[in-house]
Amino acid sequence: MRTIINHRDTEARKRNKRSEIRISKYETNSKSESWIPRSSRGMTDLKRSLCLATVLFILLPTFFATEVKAAGVYNNTKHGSPQTGVMRDAAIPRGSCRQCHSEGSGAIKYPKSLWRENDNELCYSCHRNETLSGIYPGQRVYDTSIHRTDPRAVWPGPSPSVRRDMDAAGKCLNCHDPHGRKDRSGIIPDLLISREETLCMSCHDGDPAGDIKRELRKPYSHLIRQGPGKHSSDEGGDPARYSYAGGNRHAECSDCHNAHAIDHSVSLQTAPSASGKNSRVSRIHVLNGGPETNPGYQYISANDTGAPLNEYEICYKCHSSWTQQPPGQPDMARLFNTNNASFHPVEGQGKNPGIDPNSFTGGFNAFSIIYCSDCHGSNDSNLRGPHGSQFPNILRGPYEAQGNTRVVTRDELCFICHNYETYVNAASSSLFQQASRLNPPASANGHVFHVGQKNIPCYACHDSHGSARLGALIAIRRVPGLQTFSMNSNGGACLPTCHGQQSYTLNYPR
Ligand code: HEC
Ligand code: HEC
Ligand code: HEC
Ligand code: HEC
Ligand code: HEC
Ligand code: HEC
Ligand code: HEC
Ligand code: HEC
Ligand code: HEC
Repeated sequence: MRTIINHRDTEARKRNKRSEIRISKYETNSKSESWIPRSSRGMTDLKRSLCLATVLFILLPTFFATEVKAAGVYNNTKHGSPQTGVMRDAAIPRGSCRQCHSEGSGAIKYPKSLWRENDNELCYSCHRNETLSGIYPGQRVYDTSIHRTDPRAVWPGPSPSVRRDMDAAGKCLNCHDPHGRKDRSGIIPDLLISREETLCMSCHDGDPAGDIKRELRKPYSHLIRQGPGKHSSDEGGDPARYSYAGGNRHAECSDCHNAHAIDHSVSLQTAPSASGKNSRVSRIHVLNGGPETNPGYQYISANDTGAPLNEYEICYKCHSSWTQQPPGQPDMARLFNTNNASFHPVEGQGKNPGIDPNSFTGGFNAFSIIYCSDCHGSNDSNLRGPHGSQFPNILRGPYEAQGNTRVVTRDELCFICHNYETYVNAASSSLFQQASRLNPPASANGHVFHVGQKNIPCYACHDSHGSARLGALIAIRRVPGLQTFSMNSNGGACLPTCHGQQSYTLNYPR
């Protein structure tokens, strides 16, 4: 008598009989202990496949297509390896289908002839703990992650088709196929059901999950510039795998997210700590030296939870001299060096704590620490993360990397944090104008004069990231811009491309 314990999947129960026949038939027919075709056993792969095909054709027309696909793939997956593959029952060869699917004669039967219920416990029986690389963090972490707990986390199809089992939400099977799958480019790595970002975007296209697909279609995005197949889960701490020289530049969802460890306690994070949406991701820790020197770099793997996980450290895998960046792209780790004369406060608090609070907006102040993603992100303010934007450099607001005159508008990037009334509006109240040191009354030709009246954009005078030797993020050698710049205790002096040498005095001390 057959007992079916605790399963909710009636469709699968109906099909159970068929898959049961198939597996035992196949394994009897092949006269082999393992399902893996091996020519040493006296049968060529081709004959073996034909044999399988015949059996399946007669018995299982509906499984035929799926099965032939699996035949060419499973053997080449880590599950199917006779040396290192699946192993549950020592009496059955390693890598055999029967490590997961029982033969037809046992007393207790589960759908699809599995040796137990078709749920995550099946996977946990071998995947209870984290992998060496730490990308798969083990059951404890996965069970609290959003892809396990959100009831909408169900594979939507179309290929493979939508999951219909009632307990589908949160299953590993929403992203993985234990038999492996193949697409036009070959076997999909990591037993995933779909490759790279296409896996994520099958759900993250607005239904059932947040729309990231839309972001990547925008004119500036992290993924459009490079070909597929460059990311791999074992790229780890080898800088060459991210390098321009080897043609290995890439940015995949899994470079910044760990699908097994996304938690929603996001509101608890403060910069520079990465959001829970980026937890358990590998990163580059920096040990800063003097200005204009490369910092010491230390690769930290995904599973190192002892070390802090700062968002900028994820970016440094690709945007610092740890690896080789494309020609002309600045080394962000050098620019954000906290030993520099000035920098936007990403790695730590800024060098200019006395800036008047009225010159800020959006809840920021001189003591704030900010994320790269506070500036690099979607033009849609409801969505976080540097996926795509309609603005160049994947910025959250418009900003042009050139100093030619133009009208600077309220919606520009800088005014997410800096007050437009202070830096642009020449007609604003003195409360706001005096909040900048470089403004009336002390300096008639200050910010509001230059930016608001003469249409000189911030870029002509300021770097966006850091300035190794000069205070106030001053950039020199830009055209149009400043050729020389110096500060003294109550002001400073500059020689711009626009007029002769000028000096200024401060509204309030630094
Ligand atoms: C690591 C465990 C594991 C191994 C090894 C394994 N399977 Fe499966 N198999 C499963 C699971 C889990 C399912 C249920 C999949 C699902 O619900 O999407 C399944 C489902 C199936 C199905 C039913 C497919 C369907 O669409 O309903 C067939 C047929 C099958 N396996 C054949 C095989 C064959 C043949 C092998 C060896 C080449 C094999 N399996 C190896 C775990 C395994
Ligand atoms: C009987 C033991 C066993 C079961 C059950 C099992 N696995 Fe595995 N799994 C393994 C082994 C062994 C490896 C290979 C480890 C290695 O080579 O480093 C592996 C590797 C993997 C990999 C990495 C593949 C790669 O190419 O890097 C994934 C993903 C995976 N398993 C998912 C699953 C899922 C999902 C389930 C449940 C449907 C499952 N496994 C069930 C034993 C098992
Ligand atoms: C939301 C999608 C998703 C779900 C759900 C998911 N995984 Fe994964 N898994 C991935 C992706 C993507 C990778 C490859 C990561 C990469 O390329 O860096 C991966 C890789 C792995 C690896 C290989 C890790 C390594 O170190 O090479 C294992 C093992 C694994 N997953 C097991 C599981 C198990 C077991 C479950 C369920 C408990 C599960 N996964 C659920 C997306 C998922
Ligand atoms: C089977 C569907 C599915 C797949 C595949 C999937 N996700 Fe998700 N994901 C969800 C659902 C559902 C949520 C929760 C609802 C939401 O946030 O939109 C979610 C949430 C997230 C979140 C947190 C969003 C938030 O607002 O808190 C991130 C980040 C994420 N997924 C990244 C990924 C990445 C990266 C991949 C690919 C490796 C991936 N997802 C694949 C369904 C999926
Ligand atoms: C795994 C590699 C990788 C990681 C991690 C990464 N990026 Fe990128 N990023 C790229 C690639 C590749 C490009 C395309 C240009 C290039 O090769 O640098 C790019 C482009 C950009 C651009 C646009 C530059 C341009 O030339 O248009 C910005 C801005 C950016 N990244 C910011 C970030 C931020 C912020 C982070 C961290 C949250 C980050 N990146 C993490 C690989 C990465
Ligand atoms: C996400 C918020 C944010 C955005 C957007 C932002 N800033 Fe800042 N900025 C800050 C904070 C916080 C400080 C204070 C650092 C300090 O006091 O040392 C700061 C300081 C500065 C300083 C003074 C630095 C010093 O050490 O004296 C300049 C100059 C500056 N920002 C220019 C810009 C420009 C130009 C833009 C637009 C391209 C911009 N900022 C966009 C948050 C931001
Ligand atoms: C205060 C806002 C702000 C912050 C914070 C910020 N950026 Fe930027 N970033 C910009 C702006 C504005 C530009 C375009 C103008 C420019 O290049 O100066 C830019 C340009 C870039 C570029 C393209 C540079 C080029 O010339 O190709 C990259 C790459 C980049 N940022 C990465 C990062 C990374 C990584 C971080 C965090 C470690 C970061 N940014 C933090 C505002 C910011
Ligand atoms: C360069 C790094 C990077 C890449 C590549 C990347 N993300 Fe993100 N993602 C982030 C960061 C940073 C956040 C913001 C986290 C926060 O602030 O809470 C984020 C946020 C998200 C969110 C939540 C958005 C929201 O506000 O609701 C989802 C969903 C997500 N990412 C999915 C994806 C998917 C899917 C891919 C691949 C198509 C991807 N990400 C690629 C860095 C990245
Ligand atoms: C003509 C050159 C020039 C332009 C254009 C310019 N700045 Fe400045 N900015 C300076 C100088 C010089 C200082 C240093 C004042 C000092 O000595 O403390 C400064 C200081 C700052 C500070 C430090 C706090 C303060 O106000 O004293 C911030 C923030 C700032 N600028 C933001 C901006 C923003 C945002 C823009 C564009 C809207 C901009 N600046 C345009 C020259 C310029």
